[in-house]
Amino acid sequence: MNELVGRSLLKEADFTPTQWEGLIDLAACLKRDRREGREVQYLAGKTIALIFEKTSTRTRTAFEVAAYHQGAHVTVLDGSTSQMGHKESYADTAAVLGRFYDAIQFRGSLQADVETLAQWAGVPVYNGLTDDWHPTQTLADALTIKEHVAKPLSDVVNVYVGDARFNVGRSFLVSSAMLGMDVRIIAPTAYQPDDEALEIAEAFADETGARITITEDLGAVDGADSVSTDVWVSMGESKDVWNERVEALRPYQVNADLMAATGNESAIFMHCLPAFHDLNTTVGREVYEATGMDALEVTDEVFSSAQSVVFDQAENRMHTIKAVMVATLSEDL
Ligand code: CP
Ligand code: NVA
Repeated sequence: MNELVGRSLLKEADFTPTQWEGLIDLAACLKRDRREGREVQYLAGKTIALIFEKTSTRTRTAFEVAAYHQGAHVTVLDGSTSQMGHKESYADTAAVLGRFYDAIQFRGSLQADVETLAQWAGVPVYNGLTDDWHPTQTLADALTIKEHVAKPLSDVVNVYVGDARFNVGRSFLVSSAMLGMDVRIIAPTAYQPDDEALEIAEAFADETGARITITEDLGAVDGADSVSTDVWVSMGESKDVWNERVEALRPYQVNADLMAATGNESAIFMHCLPAFHDLNTTVGREVYEATGMDALEVTDEVFSSAQSVVFDQAENRMHTIKAVMVATLSEDL
């Protein structure tokens, strides 16, 4: 019997470190099986609802393609074309969708909303990003590190630089602690993870032996095997914060000097994407006009370098999301 059947993924801490690593290993097996043309469809006939209150490229397509590979069918819903939130509560929506669907994915602002869905749906609910956590991202990150860093995960020096107080930074800290890594978050004090995230990570570190450093000091990048960052302004935040954000985080841009300061020519660069590394986006051009910066959290040089594994990382969203669905929906695993 698969012990994860029926379980929701609302945040990393819903799982034990062993279960978390198990999901990463399962994703690696599913990826290999597909490459070798022997994927088994564990989800034939299943139905999955995908609710997006915020925009998405990777998460939506990863869920859709993973479901199709596995023989499941999806419906995509959003706030503007459904009743959810404005005319019908999250609880009532969950109770209805739970009658039709075998699982529900939710992307939105509030962690409380995805938790309400999980409470009332009666089927597994997956957090596809809230303001607090992005757990399907950190599974993909871990698989990517496994593929590119020739060390056990517990020996990896996993560094995050930039805005670490939001979903991606908080999830990075907790997931890295669950995997027993040497995790280092480098950010100005106001952009470091809050006490709640740190306490969760420290509790895992007691169990896994993870080493946690939270610092403003860019020197902590020394010895990094992997350097990650995220956008400086996240979905749902006002344009009004751009100037203060750029001012505060400009020294924390991932550029060639910072990658060199790792002292590790094999260090990889990671980013959940989308990234502001050039002027080929509307927002990138607007910020350039306001600040004169032609790249924000990462320079185009680093983003496009041989050290960058961002598109492998993006691909792994699909394999890891597939693992989450298979592990929580298939009795046959
Ligand atoms: N990394 C990530 O979640 O990408 P999307 O916003 O495109 O889903
Ligand atoms: N922190 C970003 C992550 C996007 C995948 C955001 O919330 O917009």
